[in-house]
Amino acid sequence: MTEIASVEPSNELQPSPSSAVWLRIMALVYDPFVWLGEIAGMRRRRSTLVGSAQGRVVEIGAGTGLNIAHYPDGITELVLCEPEPGMRRRLAHRLQRHAGVARIVDAPAEHLPMADASVDTVVSTLVLCTVDDPERALREIARLLRPDGQLLFIEHVRASSRFLAACQDKLFQPWRHFAGGCHCNRTTVELMRACGFAIAADDGVWRGMPAIVHPLVVGRATR
Ligand SMILES: C[S@@+](CC[C@H](N)C(=O)[O-])C[C@H]1O[C@@H](n2cnc3c(N)ncnc32)[C@H](O)[C@@H]1O
Repeated sequence: MTEIASVEPSNELQPSPSSAVWLRIMALVYDPFVWLGEIAGMRRRRSTLVGSAQGRVVEIGAGTGLNIAHYPDGITELVLCEPEPGMRRRLAHRLQRHAGVARIVDAPAEHLPMADASVDTVVSTLVLCTVDDPERALREIARLLRPDGQLLFIEHVRASSRFLAACQDKLFQPWRHFAGGCHCNRTTVELMRACGFAIAADDGVWRGMPAIVHPLVVGRATR
């Protein structure tokens, strides 16, 4: 059964009308755009990562639902948070094809409608690059995780190569407009540490995608 609930996003997180139209288009083209990256390794990464989700699970920025098929049967609850209406429609469509009980919630990562210390696993794949306020989102994730809870993540990040980092800085604005607000040069792991998380992660390459989003970190963060 699919249930869709909603929380009211604050005005500061509302997109402008023109970017709202582009975000709707992005929701339609997202799966074909990342398809090559999925078959070139991202699908396998999702499967390994999400396979270690346990207990009550909250996924932020669930997008079109490319992780759904990989959740293990043993999880007790799956809450898929996604603030963009076009993405939520694709998500609901994909969810219908999978058995199990999950809820779709209209909520940005900066305002998650769950009680303190009530969640075992938070999943974030390719989302912390896009949220408007990543520190607020990470504090929100820390708030809702139980003391022994985990944040499982795949994120593309600022390159360690000076040349690629310079390309990311140069192409930051056009990429951000094209890719629905994505910050290709964000230092997400450093932000996680600054927000009090301990990180166990591996570096990777998002093959099949433009070079400015190649550098990946894949891992687990705990409080
Ligand atoms: C690159 S897509 C990733 C989608 C999905 N997680 C995946 O792995 O394919 C980024 C997603 O983050 C969502 N997003 C944008 N701003 C957000 C926010 N403030 N909080 C949570 N999600 C957000 C977008 O709507 C989009 O679905």
